[in-house]
Amino acid sequence: MDRDQAKMQVGQAAARYVEDGMVIGLGTGSTATHAIVAIGKRIQEQGLRIRGVPTSKSAEFEARRNGIPLCTLHDVDGLLDLSIDGADEVSPELDLIKGRGAAHTLEKLIASQSDRFIIVVDESKMVDQLGKTVPVPVEVIPEAAHVRMRDFQSMGYKAELRLGLRKDGPVVTDHGLWIIDVECGAISNLNWLNNTLHQLPGILDHGLFLGYATEVLIGTESGVEIRNLT
Ligand code: A5P
Repeated sequence: MDRDQAKMQVGQAAARYVEDGMVIGLGTGSTATHAIVAIGKRIQEQGLRIRGVPTSKSAEFEARRNGIPLCTLHDVDGLLDLSIDGADEVSPELDLIKGRGAAHTLEKLIASQSDRFIIVVDESKMVDQLGKTVPVPVEVIPEAAHVRMRDFQSMGYKAELRLGLRKDGPVVTDHGLWIIDVECGAISNLNWLNNTLHQLPGILDHGLFLGYATEVLIGTESGVEIRNLT
């Protein structure tokens, strides 16, 4: 089974958690998009009445083309029933690094407002320590980019402004801000880094998700493995 098949398998499995009447957080990225497609199919075939809250412009676009009625956090009293999203790394404690798609700020807000936060990944995303394979994305106001990059470098990290692939200059997020990718290596003190990033002026949010995921669906050769927070 290739990686995309594994992603499709977990996306479809996550869509089966959706029940009539629910309000669902819709994640961003290739794996979460498989869930959006599968939810759209269930709406069409089973007449499921649900509403989705998209985590990005990209998720909104995918949801609209798959016929999922949308709303925002403004329209919801209390918590969303569940959110389904991908991740870039998942630790044994179900902590995450997210934000390869620069959507982590809204993804985290929506996760924080969800009764269940279901993560969908292929098994390449499972690591024994966060930070080993991907940088921590940090969303900053453009005016803060220079000073924050200098800070990250003095903490011993490698920090790079994320640049567009088919656009000159920086990637501009859905909020009009920039992304600094901070290569930390294996992160031994997650709480310290989380708190430090939250305290530095000019940072909107970062891609460390500590204590948000309630379950992880992992696409493997032998099927979908489920890990719960115990
Ligand atoms: C979006 O900003 C990210 O947090 C994605 O959810 C994450 O990068 C996973 O994406 P893939 O499912 O495409 O790997």
